[in-house]
Amino acid sequence: MKKFSYLILIAAVFACKSKPAANVTPSFSVSEASIGKIDTSAITEYTISNPSGMKVSILNYGGTVTKIITKDKAGNDGDVVLGYDSLAGCLQKSNPYFGVLVGRYANRIAKGKFTLDGKEYKLATNNGQNALHGGLKGFDKVIWKVEKLAGDSSLQLTYKSKDGEEGYPGNVTATVVYSLTSANELKIDYKAITDKATPVNLTSHCYFNLSAGADSTILNHILMLKASWFTPVDTSLIPIGRIANVNETPKTLPMDFTEPKLIGKDIDEVKGGYDHNWVLDRKGKGLELAATLYHATSGRYMEVYTTEPGIQFYSGNFLDGTLTNTKGGKKYVQHAALCLETQHFPDSPNEPSFPNTILKPGETYTHTTVYKFSVK
Ligand code: BGC
Repeated sequence: MKKFSYLILIAAVFACKSKPAANVTPSFSVSEASIGKIDTSAITEYTISNPSGMKVSILNYGGTVTKIITKDKAGNDGDVVLGYDSLAGCLQKSNPYFGVLVGRYANRIAKGKFTLDGKEYKLATNNGQNALHGGLKGFDKVIWKVEKLAGDSSLQLTYKSKDGEEGYPGNVTATVVYSLTSANELKIDYKAITDKATPVNLTSHCYFNLSAGADSTILNHILMLKASWFTPVDTSLIPIGRIANVNETPKTLPMDFTEPKLIGKDIDEVKGGYDHNWVLDRKGKGLELAATLYHATSGRYMEVYTTEPGIQFYSGNFLDGTLTNTKGGKKYVQHAALCLETQHFPDSPNEPSFPNTILKPGETYTHTTVYKFSVK
């Protein structure tokens, strides 16, 4: 009799445990939250969740990635990108491109000019005498049209950039699809078309810190860049045109990340910190591994795959703790996070030896990058 009631109790416990699970089978979902207005336009934060609980939040303003929530090795959730608590944060003048989509041309174009088909174009300059990240009002500061795609795991963002915008020729339609996969990947598919020849170089400017707020800098993250070459720069961070081997001379040794290396190890040997374009060791034209990033304490591991020829590793050198409206009021000090921006090389429109960045009418610019999260 005693044994019998014991069995009933066990059966009841199992019944109770399995029932709620059947009702809440995890699936993909997209939620929306209104976070304010810019003039009369509503600014919305969209959050995609996947069945294992990873979440990515994106704004229609600048196509900004505001949050990436991933688990550490103990199963705790953490937000691995820098950002703000409110729209006011994004709108502050000194916002250093946190999480945004960068365009029409990522990184610098020397002296804000280039010549195309015999005509000189003058761009808006916003970084000394150079044009940086698309100019004064680049793709990071405009409102994108957002559409939820079937399956609740992707958002399609569209922006139509006008002929002459920031000095660039041609009406360009840029389409970016952010997808969250069941393998904990944030996949970004970029496309662009134009009606006049124009430079196009699009990227994502997330500032990663895989400790999710535990470490104030990324100096103890371990980085690998699948790149034996980089593009050395002058004092205004414009490539000098030469492609250098990461081990060319003892002077360039700090640039060697071909084997995983602590970011803090050699950073003091690089004036101002890392802010360079590495030339990826590629086999073909498809999606290939470009970088890995590891934070040992949390166990978080990120792999970057791309179709692009280069990657800008920027070690958050200009962060100085003065940004306001940051998440939880946190001080984002120098090296608080790092960017891994997959791209064509900076200043390519003025460097005929670099891979082509000119998009012509009838062609389609395509670029895919995947940020994959796991633990080890
Ligand atoms: C550039 C840095 C720049 C930063 C802006 C990076 O992509 O390489 O030089 O300061 O973006 O936040």
